[in-house]
Amino acid sequence: MELLNKLSENGRLSEAEFAELLRSYDETLATEAAAIARIKRKGTYGDRVFLRGLLEFSNYCKNDCYYCGLRKSYRGLSRYRMTKEEIISRTDYGYELGFRTFVLQSGEDAFFSDELLCGMIAEIKDRHPDCAVTLSIGERERESYERLFAAGADRYLLRHESCVKEHYALLHPEEMSFEHRMGCLRMLREIGYQVGCGFMVGSPFQTTGHLAKELCFLAEFKPDMCGIGPFIPKEGTPFEEKKAGSVEMTCFLLSLIRIMLPDVLLPATTALGTLDPEGREKGIMAGANVLMPNLSPVSLRPLYALYDSKICMGEESAECVECLKRRIEKTGCHIEVSRGDHKHFTHRGGVEPFAGGG
Ligand code: 5AD
Ligand code: FES
Repeated sequence: MELLNKLSENGRLSEAEFAELLRSYDETLATEAAAIARIKRKGTYGDRVFLRGLLEFSNYCKNDCYYCGLRKSYRGLSRYRMTKEEIISRTDYGYELGFRTFVLQSGEDAFFSDELLCGMIAEIKDRHPDCAVTLSIGERERESYERLFAAGADRYLLRHESCVKEHYALLHPEEMSFEHRMGCLRMLREIGYQVGCGFMVGSPFQTTGHLAKELCFLAEFKPDMCGIGPFIPKEGTPFEEKKAGSVEMTCFLLSLIRIMLPDVLLPATTALGTLDPEGREKGIMAGANVLMPNLSPVSLRPLYALYDSKICMGEESAECVECLKRRIEKTGCHIEVSRGDHKHFTHRGGVEPFAGGG
């Protein structure tokens, strides 16, 4: 309890203290942490939970991460790419449903050149100037990030997966560079994106010591968004036999992150909802304030199988929104229709404050 209070007051603990706090995890401590986290969230975002429409527009990937069902060595998967027209038409549909942020996510797919992506981003922003576009398309070079930003992309999600180089190397093949990935996060921030990082909880070989380092990394990097969800094994990947992460530890970490970074945008992830039918509600109760319902066409969703038993495969997005509204009401929060920018974000040009953000 003492360490929780210290974290709440100082917004920071030492690595050793984080490790001690994580090791002393029990239900009482988690309940206490969640209560403090909700107070912090209320102080910054009120009871608002923000929706992001997630468009998984290509499942091609040139990488071979050991945990991921989209890895290039995964042969049993038919690959798809949505066309520009399909993507635009889904954002139009999403707009009708009330979404004001679109997250364009894919594997690392070289087919989507800067030119193609910039055209898409510009058209979405043109049709829906009151919307934010978030990209989640992996590692690229600075020039590419700059072009995409100039075309109108507002935010970028790139989970770092592990802030410990040795651990990162156990999750990825040798050709994937820890330094390059971390460099991308810094570049994205310099360019002006609102930046999200993140990691899986309970990923293979992750220790409590690693998690303590993750919390220190977040305290230092201060991301605008942070995506964390439990690891879930995927059949046919090198980690198919590994144990899944825990819902409880994920929620505890969500609370600690909220206490430490009261302004951070924190999703209750689909992975959380996959391991526990009430996982997303639990995430919100632990301090999360973002939900990312799937806006991809229902026919393509089974093909974006990062892990097994992923939820919301059959429901049209409209049903997901209704379902989430019902779920969120039970947590005492409500869904907000707005861009949902980071609290300290100033719009391009620096004139429009958060409160005016649509
Ligand atoms: N279990 C949970 N999350 C996963 N991701 C990829 N594979 C899995 C898995 N097996 C997460 C990664 C990636 C994000 C898009 O999904 O953290 O960054
Ligand atoms: Fe998709 Fe509940 S959020 S069915």
